[in-house]
Amino acid sequence: MIFSNKLIAWYLDNKRFLPWRETKDPYSIWLSEIILQQTRVAQGLPYFEAFKRTYPTVFDLANAQEDDVLLLWQGLGYYSRARNLHATAKKVAYELQGQFPTTYKDLLSLKGVGEYTAAAIASIAYDEVIPVVDGNVFRVLARIYGITSDISTQRTKKEFQQIAAGLICTKQPAIFNQAIMDFGALQCTPKGTDCTPCPFITTCVAYQTNQVDKLPVKLSKTKVKNRYMDFVIYLDDKGNTLLEQRTQKDIWQNLYQFPVLDRFEDTPVKIEDYLAQQSIAKEITHIEQLTSERIIHQLSHQKLHLHFWLIKTKGIHGTPIPWSELNKFGFPIVIHNFIQSLTV
Ligand code: ADE
Repeated sequence: MIFSNKLIAWYLDNKRFLPWRETKDPYSIWLSEIILQQTRVAQGLPYFEAFKRTYPTVFDLANAQEDDVLLLWQGLGYYSRARNLHATAKKVAYELQGQFPTTYKDLLSLKGVGEYTAAAIASIAYDEVIPVVDGNVFRVLARIYGITSDISTQRTKKEFQQIAAGLICTKQPAIFNQAIMDFGALQCTPKGTDCTPCPFITTCVAYQTNQVDKLPVKLSKTKVKNRYMDFVIYLDDKGNTLLEQRTQKDIWQNLYQFPVLDRFEDTPVKIEDYLAQQSIAKEITHIEQLTSERIIHQLSHQKLHLHFWLIKTKGIHGTPIPWSELNKFGFPIVIHNFIQSLTV
């Protein structure tokens, strides 16, 4: 049996029932693909449902406030994707009269839509014959065909795109692409793969040569920088605190945070000096380090080492924000979780 028939037969028996698979609506498919750039299906599903409930159409999303979009995105991380999502909704709603582009090539012109996402939308919503190629596809094809090229290079990506283009079912590209996604997520898993039920077991090069755990090959690792952040939670007599919005082109752009002492070297903190320099508190009555050890938070290119401090004061210079209103602000998830741990 040819590859695509075998794969589709597997899919028909094993596919996941997902809300965006019940429709050809490009808005729903685009939304699901942007969310799934960020997370696995199980974690992404409640976000998809929340976005569809809050913004049923692309016009609703376009008309939203950016802060509200970021708040709904909270927890997914990589907030530039949420800003791109909003920018693209505005473009589609206001410049394209609510119509998403209908081809792979034109979809690529949308912010936040790269090759994978454009191929997914074009094939799933419009039945264009264009294969998706992502980490799942690298793994499936590298194993079945015994491909040992380093998947961190552009050249290898081209190689896999060509192979996938030769395999895709031209009659059912939407099903083929979703089948390979599910096959990579459910059967041909990154670690601890159980190959016994796999329909490709008799021909899979990796299985036959005992290399399932060795493929695909990924040589270069992204370099990760350490970053040290001491967040200062001011609290005045009336239960107010102080927040800032991160406006720089940096991690967490446009999200909110407590004032922070931020550096890339692990220099010791003299909190009193920092507080004196900031002169935000009117009269400090209490200084406490709330975290006994630094909280580690891993981003794609930075490893964050966080402390949180509580500074009680008689008053705050700046715009005081009642603690009870913190839920109206979009925070990075690690700050959100810390706030939750304080208030529950
Ligand atoms: N991962 C990315 N897009 C997906 C989709 N449409 N279905 C399942 N997994 C996915």
